[in-house]
Amino acid sequence: MGLDVIAVAVDVGQEGAGDEMDKVRERALAAGAIEAEVIDAKDEYATDFLVPALKANAMYEGRYPLVSALSRPVIVKHLVNAARRHGADAVGHGCTGKGNDQVRFEVSTRALAPDLEVIAPARNWGLTRDESIRYAEVRGIPITATREKLYSIDDNLWGRAIECGEMEDPWREPPPGVWLLTKHTATEPTDITVSFEAGVPVALDGEKLSLVDLINKLGAVVGSYGWGRIDMVENRRVGIKSRETYECPASLALILAHNDLESITLERDLAREKARLEPRYAELIYDGLWFSPLKRAYDAFIDDSQKFVTGDVRLHLSDGSCRVTGRRSPDALYDYELATYDAADSFRHADSEGFVRLWGLSVQTWAQRQGPGRGQDQ
Ligand code: ARG
Repeated sequence: MGLDVIAVAVDVGQEGAGDEMDKVRERALAAGAIEAEVIDAKDEYATDFLVPALKANAMYEGRYPLVSALSRPVIVKHLVNAARRHGADAVGHGCTGKGNDQVRFEVSTRALAPDLEVIAPARNWGLTRDESIRYAEVRGIPITATREKLYSIDDNLWGRAIECGEMEDPWREPPPGVWLLTKHTATEPTDITVSFEAGVPVALDGEKLSLVDLINKLGAVVGSYGWGRIDMVENRRVGIKSRETYECPASLALILAHNDLESITLERDLAREKARLEPRYAELIYDGLWFSPLKRAYDAFIDDSQKFVTGDVRLHLSDGSCRVTGRRSPDALYDYELATYDAADSFRHADSEGFVRLWGLSVQTWAQRQGPGRGQDQ
């Protein structure tokens, strides 16, 4: 296309990042980029992107914690910053035309920089994997991709996505070789306690950790019990159903624990309304609308709901399973004196009589005037 290219790679905690990122820089320069930048965005990704998603228990179609979808807006933020710094008039990405990621890269770019052009060569030229490899070979661009490689993999702090190959047949079991983060190696069951402050995970077994360390450590422990795999057929934004496998030990365990802590710290109506909004919030992220007015308004609501989501959740890990076995909070709405069936409770039993009578009054009236025996099916 006759353009000068500045390559930007963003470290969002993908497998082997760190030293790999140096190779990325070399490869970009070898491929003809006039400059190459590598940006470590792990802390920012965890704090500004993963935390809001966790507060919202965000899972697309009830199952997928949005691993790839969450990383795109932070990558775009840095792409746009780099474009501004270098006075570029366009940003480019390597997505094809069939996936969600093109949507996320482009919509996020337009939201942050409506004046920037977006270029997608792989999509425009419709290169197959083979043709892309050939293109690199002919031009002497060093790449590690091989023709045989079957899977399309994307990963970061929040988990790992593995698609394509034989898994395009949704009936075929994922071959054991696709799993990396969820190999069952632990021998003894164990407990791990996750502590939250205002909806944010802050410690494991009482040890304060940075978000990045906490996510990595929890993921390693939970993954060693072989827990955190997802095998699903999901609806892409572009109208295609797609068989996806994921391994998300850290994110699934955190969402499980966070959601559970909310059960003792959120008032009933707030909890129900929040639960009603959560699937929609996840859809916005999936569909590339991280930077959008609706997402922002949801964030205000969700943030406000998290003030008292403080406390501990104990997870029990054993053979392929992870479950909550206890939760506590200094701000709990759970009230032993109200809940107990012991004699010493503080609940006013007599109040129930009138309450239940009025609660049932409408149905009672219906039964008397129109109910069984008055032409209604029963
Ligand atoms: N289906 C997932 C999503 O849309 C994962 C996409 C992963 N990307 C990839 N190139 N393998 O978020």
